[in-house]
Amino acid sequence: MNELDLLVESAREQFARSATPADLENAKAQFLGKAGRVTELMKGMAQLSVEEKKTRGAAINLAKQAIEAALNDRRQALQDAQLQAQLKAEALDVSLPGRKQGQGGLHPVSLTLERIQGIFGSMGFDVAEGPEIEADWFNFTALNTPEDHPARSMHDTFYIEGGTPGAPNLLRTHTSPVQVRHAVQHVKQHRALLDAGQSMPEIRVIVPGRTYRVDSDATHSPMFHQCEGLWIGENVSFKDLKVVFTAFCRTFFESDDLVLRFRPSFFPFTEPSAEIDIQFQDGPLAGRWLEVAGSGQVHPNVVRNMGLDPERYIGFAFGMGLDRFTMLRYGVNDLRLFFDGDIRFLSQFQ
Ligand code: DAH
Repeated sequence: MNELDLLVESAREQFARSATPADLENAKAQFLGKAGRVTELMKGMAQLSVEEKKTRGAAINLAKQAIEAALNDRRQALQDAQLQAQLKAEALDVSLPGRKQGQGGLHPVSLTLERIQGIFGSMGFDVAEGPEIEADWFNFTALNTPEDHPARSMHDTFYIEGGTPGAPNLLRTHTSPVQVRHAVQHVKQHRALLDAGQSMPEIRVIVPGRTYRVDSDATHSPMFHQCEGLWIGENVSFKDLKVVFTAFCRTFFESDDLVLRFRPSFFPFTEPSAEIDIQFQDGPLAGRWLEVAGSGQVHPNVVRNMGLDPERYIGFAFGMGLDRFTMLRYGVNDLRLFFDGDIRFLSQFQ
């Protein structure tokens, strides 16, 4: 290696050792500055002959260019490193999963109710609601269940301050009181027609809502949900009850071969009365009879309490457990899961 090659080599080394742009500029001054080594070499040519100056000058120039190239490379490298460091420091990790906005959904019992409303809506039923704190009269007496009636003992509930002496208000034990509440309003609305001896529009309504009883186990909860049905007109028969409820159940369970059984029973507010059982033909519940509703022809005393003449108006009613329908539809075997509020359970229905 000649002296110039050594110079270039030493410049490269110095540049490589410069860790910052400022270091690099200092190193540059040592080689290319006014008092730098290359400048010295140039000055050293003064005594040379013209021929020698040419070859020497060209050689020095090549060395100078090599040093400049090394300088530029190093400058670039430092700039790149700085940029990389900055990018790294300011980096956004877009690969992190975002924060999810938890999406709510309907409770399975609400999904069931929506489904029931849709099916009965398609058969011309309105939806009515009533109070959960109910008067003794609507919950019992108006439904042909006077104070000393033994059927009351099956409907023990929570009593609330208020009401009349001996007949305190209570948390309603079923949605049936809304039959009378709704019918009374309906009759009031059509009073003029009735007074003129004309026909009033039929009452065709379902009544979903919360109900309460002193009951608690895997299939009973002190608070539960029912849905009542009522159809009153001048010519509504028990046969219509069978047609309507059968069509409803087959649509609800999406099973055309579902079998229904209307089993004679007793309710004070219907005569005759029937409990309705269903039987799936296949699936895990195939062959078993499952009770899903109470029903019957509305008792003349109840029709009278609605403000209607039982000689002219007749119809049927039914009452079913919304929670029971939800359990059957989704194959849930413990009712309490619906009311625990455990998101792991509830989110399965979305
Ligand atoms: N209210 C009854 C109960 O909770 C169910 C019921 C039975 C409702 C017969 C009705 C009916 O409308 O006609 O046990």
